[in-house]
Amino acid sequence: MPINATTRFCAVLGQPIKHSASPAMHNAAFAALGLNWCYGAFEVHPDHLRAAIEGAKALRYAGLNLTVPHKMLAVGMMDVLDPAAEVWGAVNTVRFEGRDGSGNWLPLHQFGEAQPESVRSCGFNTDAEAIIRAASEDLAMDWRGARVLLLGAGGAGRVAALKLSEQPIAELFLVNRTGSKAAGLADEIRRRNPGLKVELGYPSGDVDLLMNATSLGLNEADGLPLDEGRFPVRQARAVFDMIYRPALTPLLQAAQAAGCRKANGLGMLLYQGAAAFELWTGQIAPVAVMRAALEANIYGL
Ligand code: ATR
Repeated sequence: MPINATTRFCAVLGQPIKHSASPAMHNAAFAALGLNWCYGAFEVHPDHLRAAIEGAKALRYAGLNLTVPHKMLAVGMMDVLDPAAEVWGAVNTVRFEGRDGSGNWLPLHQFGEAQPESVRSCGFNTDAEAIIRAASEDLAMDWRGARVLLLGAGGAGRVAALKLSEQPIAELFLVNRTGSKAAGLADEIRRRNPGLKVELGYPSGDVDLLMNATSLGLNEADGLPLDEGRFPVRQARAVFDMIYRPALTPLLQAAQAAGCRKANGLGMLLYQGAAAFELWTGQIAPVAVMRAALEANIYGL
C-alpha cells in the first residue's frame, strides 16, 4: 500500500527504540487487512514526551504505543484514562479520539476524510491482559483450580501476580530474591482477593504453571531464576517465561529437557499489540500474521 495523503499513522515512542519489533508486527497486520495505515518508531527523550504526544494528536495520528521509559510518565499526560491504565498506573497504548456532532468520542478513523474539531488522547494499558492471554493461548492453560508458582515481584511480577489472582486459580506461590517484596505483594493480593490462597516460597508437589517474571535469563551468563534444589522444573506442567530475547532462556531449556509445555514472552508482545491494533482500527487483529512478523523480525525465522 503506497503512503499517500490519506494514510493513517501510528507509532511507538521509546528510548532506546531501534530494536522495537512493533513496526514489523503492525505494518504486517495493516498490509494483511489492506489498510492504508503506517506504523513508525521514534526515539523520544522523556523531556520531550509531552510534546511528542501533543504533536501526534495535532497530526491526527490514530494512536501511539509507549514503551520504556514512558509508560508511567504518560499517565499524567493523557486527556482521559481507560480504567486499566488507571489501575496499573501505566499507559502503553494511546488512542486519539474525535468528538462527533452528538458529543460522542470516537476513534479518528470513524470520521473518514472529515476532520473532527476536537481531538483528545485516551490512555490504555493492554500489557496486563496480554500476560493472561499469552499463557492461555500459548500454553492452553485451564485456570480453574490451577496451582501457580510465580518468580519475581518487581514491576512485571506485580502485574502478573495481580492478573493471575483474578483468574479462577486455587493457589498462588510467590518467590522473589528480595523476600520482603514478595511478602508485600502477597498482602496486596490478600486484600484485593481474600478468597485466594497466596503463599510465600516454593510449593511442595506439582504446579500447573511456573511463570518467570524476573529478569534472569536476559543475559547469556544468567542461571536459572529458581532454586532447582527446592523446586525441580519437572514439577511444573507448563512453564512461561516473560523473556522473549533470547527465545530459549535457561529456564525454557530446562523446561524442554523435562518435557514440560513451554512458551516465551513473545505472546505478551503479540497480544498487547493485537489489543492496541483493535483499539485503533476497530478490526479484529490478524494475530497469526502478527506473530509471524514478530518471529521474522526478532529471530530471523
Ligand atoms: P521489571 O519491571 O522487568 O519487573 P524490576 O521491577 O527491576 O523489573 O524487577 C526485576 C525482577 O527480577 C525482581 O523480581 C528482581 O528481584 P529483586 O526484587 O530481589 O530485585 C528479579 N531479579 C533481578 N536480578 C536478579 C538476580 N540476579 N537474581 C534473582 N532475581 C533477580
